[in-house]
Amino acid sequence: MVNKKAKNALITGSSRGIGLKTAQILKENGYNIFLTGRDIKKLEVESKKLKSPYFACDLSSLDGTKKLFESYFETYKTIDILINNAGLYEYQNIENASNIENMLNVNVKAPFELTKYFIPFMKKQKWGRIINIGSISGVMGEAFASVYSGTKSALIGFTKAVALECASYNITINVINPGWVETNMGVNSIDKSDFPIDIIPQKRFIEAYEVAKLITFLISDDAKGITGQSINLCAGFSCGI
Ligand SMILES: NC(=O)c1ccc[n+]([C@@H]2O[C@H](COP(=O)([O-])OP(=O)(O)OC[C@H]3O[C@@H](n4cnc5c(N)ncnc54)[C@H](OP(=O)(O)O)[C@@H]3O)[C@@H](O)[C@H]2O)c1
Repeated sequence: MVNKKAKNALITGSSRGIGLKTAQILKENGYNIFLTGRDIKKLEVESKKLKSPYFACDLSSLDGTKKLFESYFETYKTIDILINNAGLYEYQNIENASNIENMLNVNVKAPFELTKYFIPFMKKQKWGRIINIGSISGVMGEAFASVYSGTKSALIGFTKAVALECASYNITINVINPGWVETNMGVNSIDKSDFPIDIIPQKRFIEAYEVAKLITFLISDDAKGITGQSINLCAGFSCGI
């Protein structure tokens, strides 16, 4: 069901985790949403629940990114909000890193390409919001996740540069850097019973809804002055010890 007066949002990686929670909260707040991920069965279920379109594709190839753009555009014809959330993590020392190309494609190239595709439409309508989901690992560096940390750092420089280029078009772009979040990625990447929770000042993981709520604020008109920012949502982890 498309509300023609509402703003349209594409959320990558919205089959589960932070992306799905964001899709649910945006839908509750009256946005038209477009779901995407690789897991077609999960997308079918969530799309029915949220009465919203979806497209299954693999963002590790440029072809997947282009097809997503085309499918989204066929449905909504215009874009107001792009949330580059899909991401991959690998816990491995650098000498054994086995997934470099894939991680660069999904975590870096896909957000760059999607931004490139959608910016002309946002410029034309003189309004747009882009949120990149980085990671606290891209701000601080995470041992045994150097490739992941590098890909997430790349989003920070990209965000600042695009913000400068697009500032006069009423387009804002920001990057949110979560700490550990209670999702498949956050929980599967560690042994929870062994995890030194005391290293996090608030002694807890972030919940997906907290990221979604920050996104909701940043895409609102009230946040029009916030652009090019790298915002840590990490329960105090980045402050130091
Ligand atoms: N969880 C954390 O602790 C944490 C911390 C900091 C930053 N982040 C960042 O937050 C974002 C969301 O993570 P999450 O915790 O929600 O992870 P998640 O539960 O693992 O979800 C990842 C999402 O990305 C999609 N995705 C992964 N590879 C893809 C590919 N090749 N093509 C298309 N879609 C793909 C997945 O879709 P399918 O499953 O359908 O393929 C899924 O919807 C990521 O960018 C992550 O790096 C997470």
